[in-house]
Amino acid sequence: MTQSAQQSEICDDSLLKFEVPEIIHGHGALSKIGQCAKRLGGECVLVVTDPGIIEVGWLDETLKYLEKEDLKYVVYDNVVTNPRDFQVEEGVGLYLAKKCDVIVAVGGGSPIDTAKGIAILASNHGCISDYEGCNQVVHPIPPMVCAPTTAGTGADVTQFAVITNSQRKMKMTILSRAIMPDISLVDPLVLQTKSPELIAATGMDTFTHALEAYVSSLSWPLTDPHAIHSIELVAKHLVNAFRYRTIESLEGMSIASLEAGIAFSNAILGAVHALAHPVGGLYDIHHGIANSILLPAVVRENLEHSIEKYAQVTAAMGVDTSKMTSRQAAYRLLEEIENLTADLGLPAKFSSLGIGPDDIPLMAGLAQQDICMLTNPCRYELEEIEQLYREAL
Ligand SMILES: [Fe+2]
Repeated sequence: MTQSAQQSEICDDSLLKFEVPEIIHGHGALSKIGQCAKRLGGECVLVVTDPGIIEVGWLDETLKYLEKEDLKYVVYDNVVTNPRDFQVEEGVGLYLAKKCDVIVAVGGGSPIDTAKGIAILASNHGCISDYEGCNQVVHPIPPMVCAPTTAGTGADVTQFAVITNSQRKMKMTILSRAIMPDISLVDPLVLQTKSPELIAATGMDTFTHALEAYVSSLSWPLTDPHAIHSIELVAKHLVNAFRYRTIESLEGMSIASLEAGIAFSNAILGAVHALAHPVGGLYDIHHGIANSILLPAVVRENLEHSIEKYAQVTAAMGVDTSKMTSRQAAYRLLEEIENLTADLGLPAKFSSLGIGPDDIPLMAGLAQQDICMLTNPCRYELEEIEQLYREAL
């Protein structure tokens, strides 16, 4: 699909849209997972999760609730960070062999994106790479319930899935109305088992979602309030969640992730994500860390194209901007981002992760073609994208 065809799919005649799944939020929300699967007509559930979730006990908890509703189930748990195409194929093989009729995803973005990939192939067939790009999924997917455990990706409320093409070592972005889950069960208690490192990385993913959605060329009055409120919540709760994992801070981050997901599913993202996807595909580093490292370089270049909105983001982060010009307030955001990532102990540059300049031309080419680039506040030439990567080294 050409980039101009994708652009017309995303920005169809200047019409805007807003779509969210049913959301059940609160302490104990996970306990509704069996009832939800049953309510969607399920009799045999494919549960998609990962080994980390099994280790901390959330799979056992989920299965207990499925059994309570007399549901049959089968578990697919061979999921890793940056999920691969062959895992989607394994999962759909299991779904079809066991004659499942509903999918339940328990975990972070990786199990949820894998579940979306499985759902696509279960009803649309072929290879997952056939569905890369915008609105390539034609047939409705099976009913799907998500129980997010990371408060970061927002994948439980979005029409995005990102799957790595294992042969080409390239992330494929799938954006399609048809892959929105039916129900999201957001239970802050589930976040208590997250490690501080994961809280930091996924928290920065949330922040990047909210920021990019807020300045996106497709932002509008139904997405902006969620994006800006998410930024306020991140500023208030992320460092506390990282340091102390208090229930209040985890609950705040669960809403932040949810609202950022709602905002970016409908307003799409920007250059940070476009540049982060090739880094994740080639080097397999955590998506939130890739975003975090790229944020300062991209924001610095984007600022002049959306001064007022970046100034509003600075204010949402708790800075008194009343005596600043909009430009001063917007540029102050760079300092705030730097302070936030330092407080979270995240790496500031790719070189500290062993990433050098060799793949920059390849990554820049991929980033320029990424769907997320279409809604960035400005367009970048290839050389400018290469320069952004160099600044993040
Ligand atoms: Fe993201």
